[in-house]
Amino acid sequence: MKDIRETVRKKYAEAVRKNRSCCGSGSSCCASGSDPITEGIYQGTSKDRIPDAVLGQSLGCGSPVEMAGLKPGEAVLDLGSGAGLDAFLAGGEVGPSGKVFGLDMTDEMILAAESNRVHWGLDNVEFLKGFIEEIPLPEGSVDAVVSNCVINLSPDKDAVFREIFRVLKPGGRISVSDVVFLRPVPEEIRSSIDAWAGCIAGALGMEEFAGKLKAAGFENVRVEPTRVYEFTPEQLQDMFPDMQGVADIDAKDVAAGAWISAVKPLS
Ligand SMILES: C[S@@+](CC[C@H](N)C(=O)[O-])C[C@H]1O[C@@H](n2cnc3c(N)ncnc32)[C@H](O)[C@@H]1O
Repeated sequence: MKDIRETVRKKYAEAVRKNRSCCGSGSSCCASGSDPITEGIYQGTSKDRIPDAVLGQSLGCGSPVEMAGLKPGEAVLDLGSGAGLDAFLAGGEVGPSGKVFGLDMTDEMILAAESNRVHWGLDNVEFLKGFIEEIPLPEGSVDAVVSNCVINLSPDKDAVFREIFRVLKPGGRISVSDVVFLRPVPEEIRSSIDAWAGCIAGALGMEEFAGKLKAAGFENVRVEPTRVYEFTPEQLQDMFPDMQGVADIDAKDVAAGAWISAVKPLS
């Protein structure tokens, strides 16, 4: 678990230092400016509210805050908050009587997020350093958990779901954007550490994702694809630089960005 986290941490520290995306890319992390996973995920009203500099630091694969139905006064946790964009959007939704915690394990991300928070002028957002597998908040302390393209990176997803369930209040909900597999993929793909850190190899299948949430105690579980990826042979080669013949794999309809929602039962 430590090896995967350390590879992921280094990759995202580099991403924020270079101010480049690295979702969907391989060992050449951050070499390409845009990618099929992060491009154009914020539309409409959300996009209009986001300063360009913060938008450029987004490494998500969807817009979970838009789908979370947040209300003024609610307490929200953003898992793997990165440079803070979704935490800031959530802060705007819950208003001054609400509170948003952003949790991330990477020092460079926490620093970038805190600097962005000061520019954005939001007093109701706080960034915490820690792991999503060991959330540093008490039981039953938040109304909603949002997360954008982070759970796929965890080497222990069952622990993440257990922790989310613990920190949510009864009746609390999750709104998560993440990469999912739409059909089984070769073991070589799932075991590539570069592709893990690039948000691909660690992704769950749709039913696997739903099954793990139900096993953790959630109900009303939904996993809905929002963008099906069509990786080009060049993108596949970049994601899996050491894999022979990877450019010949039929990568159509294999993976998608998805929106995942679920509720913690009231009792
Ligand atoms: C793909 S980026 C997404 C960042 C942000 N959610 C966004 O949409 O821009 C993944 C983030 O999750 C953090 N992260 C990855 N694994 C983590 C873990 N196990 N615990 C805490 N943070 C983690 C990384 O440091 C990075 O900031």
